[in-house]
Amino acid sequence: MEPLTNENFACLTSLDASSSVHWIQLVEAILIKEDSVVVTQKPNPLSSINVSGPIPAHLARSVIEETLRNAILDGRLPCGTAMRQQELACLFGVSRMPVREALRQLEAQSLLHVVTHKGAVVAPLIEDNSAETYALRILLESEALRLSIPLLTDDDITQAGGYIAALEHEIDYTKIGRLNRLFHMALYGKAPNQRLLKLVEHGLNEEERFLRFNLEAMGLSETSQEDHRELLNLVAQKKVDESILTLRNHLMRGMEVITLYLNGLEQNNEKEPL
Ligand code: NI
Repeated sequence: MEPLTNENFACLTSLDASSSVHWIQLVEAILIKEDSVVVTQKPNPLSSINVSGPIPAHLARSVIEETLRNAILDGRLPCGTAMRQQELACLFGVSRMPVREALRQLEAQSLLHVVTHKGAVVAPLIEDNSAETYALRILLESEALRLSIPLLTDDDITQAGGYIAALEHEIDYTKIGRLNRLFHMALYGKAPNQRLLKLVEHGLNEEERFLRFNLEAMGLSETSQEDHRELLNLVAQKKVDESILTLRNHLMRGMEVITLYLNGLEQNNEKEPL
């Protein structure tokens, strides 16, 4: 239970009049015990976010973006959580402008959706077009790998190997997602087409969230690591076609997991009484 202090009360009262849902929750949440007012509202996901001290104005956007991004990726901010600008501005102790910019960045990374009349909310972990997203990633990443392999240096191969080694011991799903992205980018990074690389990185960012689900739901980590080792081995030998084939199989596995999951959802929906 968190006492309703003057400070957070000031924050609450400065919210838009339109955020009526918040007020309803607040009214539901207030218990008056003798002389003290205590807030017992359902835990607000945003309360999991720690802001340590004032944020310098020039860093505000990037700090907010990074903090929210991490909280979305590690599941502290579940899908559907509303990202209200004023509430976040209060939380981070900044004006609404850097918050708005940070939310825009997160939306561009497909981590937030803008919903009419509701504003930005955390995007679902799995969308019904996720299989299509994966299919597109296979095309883009295969091409990036094809362009990159001939230009990769020994240092690039060593760096990619380092990420595989780090993945061996990592149990934190958020860090696993990041290391997986860095490993793949190390292999594609020499592709000269910068726009292609941007698209590839965008897909990998989305996968950081999927991965958490993949690993937890399907225990894919073992097979993933075998794929990674095989892929690196082939890339080191500059075997372009074989590398692409291994990469495709690796990504196909992810796509199958998503498809199975979505089919399961559909069947469950059908079973539900009208
Ligand atoms: Ni991978």
